[in-house]
Amino acid sequence: MPSPTPADLYLRPLRADDADTAAVLAAFTADPDGMSRQGPVQDAQSARAYVEHLAGNAALEATAVCDAHGLAGLVTVQRDETNLSGWVAYWMHPRLRGTGATGLAVATVADRALTDGGLGRLELGHRANNPASGGVARRAGFTPEGTQRGYFLIDGVRHDVHLWGRLAEDPPSGVEPLPLRG
Ligand SMILES: CC(C)(COP(=O)(O)OP(=O)(O)OC[C@H]1O[C@@H](n2cnc3c(N)ncnc32)[C@H](O)[C@@H]1OP(=O)(O)O)[C@@H](O)C(=O)NCCC(=O)NCCS
Repeated sequence: MPSPTPADLYLRPLRADDADTAAVLAAFTADPDGMSRQGPVQDAQSARAYVEHLAGNAALEATAVCDAHGLAGLVTVQRDETNLSGWVAYWMHPRLRGTGATGLAVATVADRALTDGGLGRLELGHRANNPASGGVARRAGFTPEGTQRGYFLIDGVRHDVHLWGRLAEDPPSGVEPLPLRG
């Protein structure tokens, strides 16, 4: 039985001087294995560098997912202006996993990117053994587009990667968008 989705969720841009760097570090240290491909964050210094790198990339839109306790997750869209497409990635602190919060956040970001954001296509990929990430993609209106066999090499082991895509003309996610602040 999933936990209820928190009612106080909201989105805001990630900032280079983000006060929630400690929350970013907490999310990485709470699940080192699951977060290993999200970035090299092990301590306060690397968490600060990670935030500065994301927020300082003009082609990358980084959106913080927050509740009353602060930053809990992140959704990023790496824009490809040549193809007017975007690569989507996301993570959530374990305290809010299984609540539907990630699906709502990614759906909100994807809906905006394909309308106001001017993109015509979004895509993402996740390890085949990460079905929750596929659930997020489906919730956000993405369509399965196949499997890259053995695409990721992790600790000497090759992992299949499931690909998902969503076009601007595909149906919207249908979720009530989370509020965007700041
Ligand atoms: C992947 C991750 C973001 C999933 O977060 P989550 O909190 O479980 O996601 P949600 O609770 O929003 O669930 C989204 C959907 O997936 C479904 N789902 C969750 N776990 C599932 C599973 N094991 N199998 C199938 N569907 C699943 C949920 O039911 C939900 O669907 P619904 O809204 O229609 O009910 C989280 O586990 C995480 O941060 N992992 C580490 C980083 C990572 O792997 N990122 C993805 C690669 S970019």
